[in-house]
Amino acid sequence: MDLLRENLEAYLKGLYGKELSLLSVRKLGETIPTAEDVKGFGYGSPLMVDYQLPGKKGSCVLSTMRVQHGFGHDHFSDRARILIWQNATFSRLPKHVRSLDVGYFTSDGRLVSAGEASEYFLLMEKIEGKEYFFDLERVKEEGATDLDHERVIALSDYLALIHSTKKDCPPLYQRKIRETVGDGECIFGILDDYPENTTFLDPDELQEIEKVCVEWRWRLRSKAHRLSMVHGDFHPWNIMFREGTDFSVLDRSRGEWGEPADDITALAMNYIFYSVQKSLRLTGDLKDLFELFFENYLEKTGDDELLEVIAPFFAFRAVVVASPTWYPLLSDDVRRALFNFLENVLASERFNYRDVNAYLD
Ligand SMILES: Nc1ncnc2c1ncn2[C@@H]1O[C@H](COP(=O)(O)OP(=O)(O)O)[C@@H](O)[C@H]1O
Ligand SMILES: [Mg+2]
Repeated sequence: MDLLRENLEAYLKGLYGKELSLLSVRKLGETIPTAEDVKGFGYGSPLMVDYQLPGKKGSCVLSTMRVQHGFGHDHFSDRARILIWQNATFSRLPKHVRSLDVGYFTSDGRLVSAGEASEYFLLMEKIEGKEYFFDLERVKEEGATDLDHERVIALSDYLALIHSTKKDCPPLYQRKIRETVGDGECIFGILDDYPENTTFLDPDELQEIEKVCVEWRWRLRSKAHRLSMVHGDFHPWNIMFREGTDFSVLDRSRGEWGEPADDITALAMNYIFYSVQKSLRLTGDLKDLFELFFENYLEKTGDDELLEVIAPFFAFRAVVVASPTWYPLLSDDVRRALFNFLENVLASERFNYRDVNAYLD
């Protein structure tokens, strides 16, 4: 992108007053300043900017982040997060350069200040419907209807459809695996939130789980061919049904591209969770819905490899539903059963969705 002189000057006038005039711009590390447009302005290389105000000259440095895959800088929101943080913290450290402002480039190259931001919000359309967890509550108490089966087909068909869009970008797949294991919102972060000395866990049990998850990370990082369009948080509180099988989803999370097993387990874990709350086993209609979900998905995608990569994703969803913070009202027996499930799934190379109760023992 070319950084147009007029856009840079217009922005600085907004900050320092309309009397300002731009004198020169020079890429740090280069000697020739230019009063013209900066051709081929590459993100990531700081610019030295000199300007004139009535009675005084001024200088400042315009810094941006390099657009590249890897290191967690893949998305523009990643790079925004780092610059927003720098703007908020630079001036709080003694002897540290002060940040003067943070902002963004528009698609037509204008520079816009975002320095006044103190918290961000998202405005979205209102969705009609009822959250899917109400269905699971009802099925747990009253059993399943034909519509419940049709809805399972609709949900697994939807995932088969979105997952059919693939992307060739190994760093994004490795990121999904890395974050599922180590991110604050995922396994490491959820386990950090567990209370010390719980009655349903052995002392080093959480550490052992993390070690096995790291092994799984190294087993999966080479499977970048599986990188697919994903939802990222496909659980019953983010799915809203209207009439019949008509539904909408909410709250997409943690990256557009990822591992299909993440979406599969986000929902499938709840058929297990609702049944275990009742009987410490996966039984009855919830068992039927769980197996139908897998059967239909595997039939529509042919993705048999899913069963060999799914374990750490089940572990993530299981530590969430077993969490005293997220689900404070569960008995220790239920939490224990969920930990048995995740540890046994992590210990097996291939998941057998027809024999979940063997993992709950
Ligand atoms: N656009 C929307 N239309 C209707 N209900 C919504 C909408 N967004 C959120 N909700 C309701 O608010 C709940 C929480 O919103 P969500 O975006 O999922 O936030 P959280 O990050 O807390 O899960 C949803 O489960 C749903 O009940
Ligand atoms: Mg949500």
